[in-house]
Amino acid sequence: MDQDFLPINGTDYLEFYVGNAKQSAMYYQTAFGYELVAYAGPETGLRDRASYVLKQDKIRLVLTSSIVQDSPVSDHVKKHGDGVKVLALWVDDAKKSFEETTSRGAIAVEEPRTIKDEHGEVVVSAIQTYGETIHRFVERKNYNGAFLPGYIKKESELEVKPIGLKYVDHCVGNVGWGEMNKWVEFYEKVMGFSLLITFDDKDISTDYTALMSKVVSNGNGYIKFPINEPAEGKKKSQIEEYLDFYNGAGVQHIAIATDDIIHTVSELRKRGVDFLRVPETYYEDLTDRVGEIEEDIKPLKDLNILVDRDEEGYLLQIFTKPVQDRPTLFYEIIQRKGAKSFGKGNFKALFEAIEREQELRGNL
Ligand code: FE2
Repeated sequence: MDQDFLPINGTDYLEFYVGNAKQSAMYYQTAFGYELVAYAGPETGLRDRASYVLKQDKIRLVLTSSIVQDSPVSDHVKKHGDGVKVLALWVDDAKKSFEETTSRGAIAVEEPRTIKDEHGEVVVSAIQTYGETIHRFVERKNYNGAFLPGYIKKESELEVKPIGLKYVDHCVGNVGWGEMNKWVEFYEKVMGFSLLITFDDKDISTDYTALMSKVVSNGNGYIKFPINEPAEGKKKSQIEEYLDFYNGAGVQHIAIATDDIIHTVSELRKRGVDFLRVPETYYEDLTDRVGEIEEDIKPLKDLNILVDRDEEGYLLQIFTKPVQDRPTLFYEIIQRKGAKSFGKGNFKALFEAIEREQELRGNL
């Protein structure tokens, strides 16, 4: 490939617009083991919002809610419910990232600007992606504060126990009917990503519903964005259900990597996080399907963790139920043991599990 015109060091942070950031922050601390590290709000000079910054290993989440009736944050929450607003990308040059992408057709959201405080300076800029989601470029090489200028360091009295979450493995977007290729092209042309994998509706269909998916990745492979669109089936696809409740395109799930999925999932279950369940029969032919693995089958079965293998190794994964009342955003916990793929062998069992949930919600 030609010179990478958009080098990215990794995910900088994920910002959620939510109804009640103070309480969401508590959920992510107690259930997922994130630590509160920074805060911005009326006490720091913001008039319309409050933001809590949480961290675990390389993952940073920002939870933001409106404190006034009318604001971009309250409009977003009214329309979409709690959801991901910003997929922020850590770059060495936020101005160049903005120029390279906008000159290739990206819609500008935030012109490059330098923000400063006593801990140094950060350059930020932002562009639009699917739905109302944005990519913010963050250049932080001259900064050593808690998060970004404007935020103060904040700790909680709460005793938080991390659960082994390491980094963001991939973030999946759901887009409307027939829009997958448009967004794949956006990532290819505007952001210099390349197409990694294509799943058609034959790969991802059950007796009832279907979807299509393509995965794009940046030059160094640190950023992976699968893009899903609904496909025609006998019943309503899970992607359509998402689009109905989110009122358009948006982030469907965030996959977080762990080095010890049995520990991570045991802790999450203990702390009350709900996961999708596949039937017991899934484990009957597991070894035939994926071959020898290092883990005992028993704890995987007890925790309902799924396994899949590709040419390079295997992976272990599990999916939460939606983490808000709208059937929209959920999490994947993934442990890779050589495999670079996404668990295609689990799609059928998983989608049937999702359909059972859709049925319970009356949305199938
Ligand atoms: Fe995933």
